[in-house]
Amino acid sequence: MEVVLSDRSPCEAAVDAVVIGVFADKQLDGPAAAVNEACGGTIQHLLDSGELSGRTGEVVQLWSLPGVAATQIALVGLGERERWGAGACAQAAGTAARRLAAQPRGDVLFALGEVSEAATAAAGIAAAMAACHGQDLYRAERKLHPFKRLLWSQADASAVERGKILGEAVNLTRRLVNEPPAVIYPETFAERAVEIARATGLEAEVWDADRLQAERMGALLAVARGSSRPPRVVILRHRAGGEGKKGLFLVGKGVTFDSGGLSLKSNDSMKDMKCDMAGAATVLGAMQAIARLDVPHPVVGVMGLVENMPGSAAMKLGDVLTARNGRTIEVMNTDAEGRLVLADALALAVDQGADRIIDLATLTGACMVALGTDVVGLMSNDPGWSDQVRQAADACGELCWPLPMFSVYDELIQSDVADIKNSTGVRWAGAITAAKFLAQFVGEVPWTHLDIAGPAFLERPKPWLDGGATGVMVRTLVEVVERLSKATG
Ligand code: BES
Ligand code: MN
Ligand code: ZN
Repeated sequence: MEVVLSDRSPCEAAVDAVVIGVFADKQLDGPAAAVNEACGGTIQHLLDSGELSGRTGEVVQLWSLPGVAATQIALVGLGERERWGAGACAQAAGTAARRLAAQPRGDVLFALGEVSEAATAAAGIAAAMAACHGQDLYRAERKLHPFKRLLWSQADASAVERGKILGEAVNLTRRLVNEPPAVIYPETFAERAVEIARATGLEAEVWDADRLQAERMGALLAVARGSSRPPRVVILRHRAGGEGKKGLFLVGKGVTFDSGGLSLKSNDSMKDMKCDMAGAATVLGAMQAIARLDVPHPVVGVMGLVENMPGSAAMKLGDVLTARNGRTIEVMNTDAEGRLVLADALALAVDQGADRIIDLATLTGACMVALGTDVVGLMSNDPGWSDQVRQAADACGELCWPLPMFSVYDELIQSDVADIKNSTGVRWAGAITAAKFLAQFVGEVPWTHLDIAGPAFLERPKPWLDGGATGVMVRTLVEVVERLSKATG
């Protein structure tokens, strides 16, 4: 989809649709006021009669308005004026785009109103692009039709370019997650990653099973053993700025399908488990954007790719694994496989000299119990670093919230047989005890763990996005790196 900056007037632009924003306080200004004036007060009339409220999620379409050159005007609710920002803009632009994409369109002009901040415009553009692509990759008749051109007004050229790059990154992540597990498995994921690296100028390294053996990645390899699909680890490097620094490491859980292994999941818990590589796909999407934006800060993406299956060579309960950093792990539940994959991937990041680490993983159902399906769980060994990640997420309008890492939780992962065990055997604090497990592999490096089990994949569509993969945290990761580059070069 072509995305361009436009200074065309919302009344005079002869496009297929113009998207106009209205706040819930019902005060018309900017493009909404201009269109209202041109057509003789129709928008004001809709507000007065209660047909239009300006609330989030609302779209009212008007055809053939007098004084307006466009085929239709789509009025979209912007929500409360005081809460306007990247998150609200993403929801409004996404809602309008998803509605309009129900039919094929040529040019669609977004004139939401005063979008003063560049970050707000970029979030809106990325969300509109995401809203035009659905999960129906294999339907003969697609439900959504990307516009031929998306025109965005009231921003500068760099904000529009940044929004387009972010939108393409989010859609890359979503596409990979939405593909079936027979299409995306460790080898094919690695191939896609290498293609993206070539196209964007990232350095790429792919480790196969022999290399992983030589690199002592015993925990990751144990997960892979139950599957006929061999594992891969992909390392992508963005070398830029930060002289003498190794930089930020982004580490992603890439379980291309999680059957649970011998601790087999129920049908209901398994049906969406193609989404269990969303952490790795988020890292790949973010790396693509970071490279294309040429952010002047060094970043390394590490993706641990395996399939968790109950094959005859699968790891068993009671097995003891030795991770890359020498820690021994007693396997108490083969469905707690994500932390095994991340253990070795995190230890690898430490060995490569990471200055800071963020990991992303669809790690625990417990995180969804704690925070619901819309909020990312954030856990860390360094409050200063996790605050930086939180602030970046806030600026992007992506929701995350901290869970505590008190030492009272430490005893829950102690094992009688090995250094630690991969499952506590109790239901309580499952998101935190998983993070406590990961903390054993990051040494002293400032580390923030993002549990995206809830928000990575929508069981039902939202007004602003089709069901399936969301691409959550791609924009936040890019924002984190941009902020680091401004702080440290
Ligand atoms: N991939 C799952 C977590 C998950 C659940 C992601 C729902 C997305 C939606 C993870 O590997 C898992 O199975 N976790 C177990 C851990 C338990 C066995 C300690 C869980 O959450 O039940
Ligand atoms: Mn699992
Ligand atoms: Zn999993």
